[in-house]
Amino acid sequence: MTELLSLTGIGKTYGTVRALEDVSLTLRSGEISCVLGDNGAGKSTLIKIIAGLHRHDEGTFTVAGEEVRLDSPRQALDRGIATVYQDLAVVPLMPVWRNFFLGSERGHKRWGGLSIDADGMRATTRRALADMGIDLPDVDRPIGTLSGGQRQCVAIARAVHFGAKVLVLDEPTAALGVKQSGVVLKYVTAARDAGLGVVLITHNPHHAYLVGDHFTLLKRGRMAGSHARAEIGLEQLTTEMAGGSDLAELSHELARPGTGASPVDPARPADPAHPADPVDPAEERPQP
Ligand SMILES: Nc1ncnc2c1ncn2[C@@H]1O[C@H](COP(=O)(O)OP(=O)(O)OP(=O)(O)O)[C@@H](O)[C@H]1O
Ligand SMILES: [Mg+2]
Repeated sequence: MTELLSLTGIGKTYGTVRALEDVSLTLRSGEISCVLGDNGAGKSTLIKIIAGLHRHDEGTFTVAGEEVRLDSPRQALDRGIATVYQDLAVVPLMPVWRNFFLGSERGHKRWGGLSIDADGMRATTRRALADMGIDLPDVDRPIGTLSGGQRQCVAIARAVHFGAKVLVLDEPTAALGVKQSGVVLKYVTAARDAGLGVVLITHNPHHAYLVGDHFTLLKRGRMAGSHARAEIGLEQLTTEMAGGSDLAELSHELARPGTGASPVDPARPADPAHPADPVDPAEERPQP
């Protein structure tokens, strides 16, 4: 497997906020690398650096073996890095195929002018979705009428179609139910099978463990763990993610005075329906 990108000792500061410190991660083709962490852990900051939205101020970032400092998302795209954000940049009233080709429209020359090749783009969109096994017969539907999961799938198919080597997904299943999450994860593995390297950001250790080859845990901007799949089980991942000791502390704080009864049993792994809810007020974001 070829190494697609590698981050070593990455640090990033926003004013006085230390968002990332000494974070390292390597991604190879045909591999899904999951980044897990609580709110404010630095997950989005990390992918913004990979996506060319923000520049790191410490450490080295190499793409295909070459050290880079990306200045724009365009530079990241040119190096084959496609990012799908949680709040997808789509135009809701435009049909699926227009969104698929957004910014990469095809046209033909006609009487000296340029007209867009609607039929060609429609057909290509239909084929690209079908190739990924995505069942969406009507590409003329406004994309705003699709479910959140379907929109994520279209975005993934788009990245694959336009030749991305690295696919970065920021919490693609955060707003989805169980079934839709499953569908999105299926296309994440389809992208992997097509040879892409995938960086999957998630709060959910269950989703991560379903597909991940590698797991990086972030906590307050620092790496709290980095494990290959063979080294860690779901239970341990869930406990690490929930922060076993934090949970015990919280349980103590929440105990009813006088009863000694504790509403959270620290011996029990976190509730899978609410993995790692933010518990530490120090981790809350400052208001912008
Ligand atoms: N543009 C910014 N300016 C100032 N501080 C920022 C900025 N972006 C992020 N931060 C801060 O950096 C830290 C990490 O934020 P980040 O968005 O990377 O966390 P996250 O892990 O993605 O959280 P979430 O799960 O809530 O999306 C937080 O303390 C946040 O307030
Ligand atoms: Mg985030």
